[in-house]
Amino acid sequence: MKKIAFFLGKGGVGKTTISATVACQMSRSGTKILIVSLDPAHNLGDVFQTKLTNEKRPLDTNLDGMEIDLSAWVARYLDESRKEIKANYAYHSAINVDSYINILKYSPGTEEYAVLWAIEHIYQEYAAACDLIIFDTPPTALTLRFLAMPSITSLWVRELSAMREKILKKRQTILAINPDAAIVKNFSPAGADASEETPVQGAMDKKDDQIYIKLSGIGKRLAELQRLFSRESYLSVVVNPDTLSLAEALRIREELGRLGVHINSVCLNKASPEGAGRENVEKNFGDCPVFMSRLLAEGVRAVSDLGVIDVEGVKNDIKAAR
Ligand SMILES: Nc1ncnc2c1ncn2[C@@H]1O[C@H](COP(=O)(O)OP(=O)(O)O)[C@@H](O)[C@H]1O
Ligand SMILES: [Mg+2]
Repeated sequence: MKKIAFFLGKGGVGKTTISATVACQMSRSGTKILIVSLDPAHNLGDVFQTKLTNEKRPLDTNLDGMEIDLSAWVARYLDESRKEIKANYAYHSAINVDSYINILKYSPGTEEYAVLWAIEHIYQEYAAACDLIIFDTPPTALTLRFLAMPSITSLWVRELSAMREKILKKRQTILAINPDAAIVKNFSPAGADASEETPVQGAMDKKDDQIYIKLSGIGKRLAELQRLFSRESYLSVVVNPDTLSLAEALRIREELGRLGVHINSVCLNKASPEGAGRENVEKNFGDCPVFMSRLLAEGVRAVSDLGVIDVEGVKNDIKAAR
């Protein structure tokens, strides 16, 4: 079994409902589950008829739940960025760090990084203590962006690292010409604590250069997240028997495919007893198994309703996925 499961899809198709149903039913048959909502418009707690917060709490035997507080993660990410910028560029008075951070707050990508670091944290903290982490995802646009972040940012990190190496080489050249050049004196040794705002002044070697070390660190974290998404995760896209949700599901598959992240299955939720639309989904998804959950005529009103939604197929597929 994979360690992580994501349910993706258009708003309203039943991502939260299917995530909660799978979590409930698998935990009842003995699998230790942590269910986490990544959707800023949280309603996982509503489904369980309880309050969920940024800290995990038990919902049932073998079942814990939490809703990540995205604004807290954004604040944390900005705070870490502020510290790092101050530490690494303290000598560079031209940069007004606080105004830069204010811009960063509204920059594209900030929310996505916050989600990524939240996923990284949850995986590192809790993966060992449970069998499966189920992520209930936000609307498609944000989900696709955070899933794409590791591979896109890795390209940036690689480019920036190469530029940094060039700078370091230039410094070596300067030193060869003038051994007393100020730019190569007083550099912070490797391992100096960046949070203590030690200015980096002219390291010459990659192993001594705080910025190069930092870039390598970010590169490693992103590679690990990319591995989590492409190797350790089971991804299911939820659709309804309608054209729009299917079109969005196909777009998700295509965009993720380009990033080396593959969809494992499709959950056709709110299906009619005759399974109308199933053929169409199967035709479009070809190699992907399609699992059906019927529409409950009275809607999902209580936690006990999660026991009756049929998610047998997807549960077995999650268990079997290697
Ligand atoms: N199989 C189902 N039968 C009846 N109602 C359902 C079913 N699946 C989801 N719903 C209802 O559809 C609405 C949207 O579901 P939700 O899980 O919140 O979607 P999403 O998380 O994709 O936005 C909710 O009111 C939910 O109770
Ligand atoms: Mg939802």
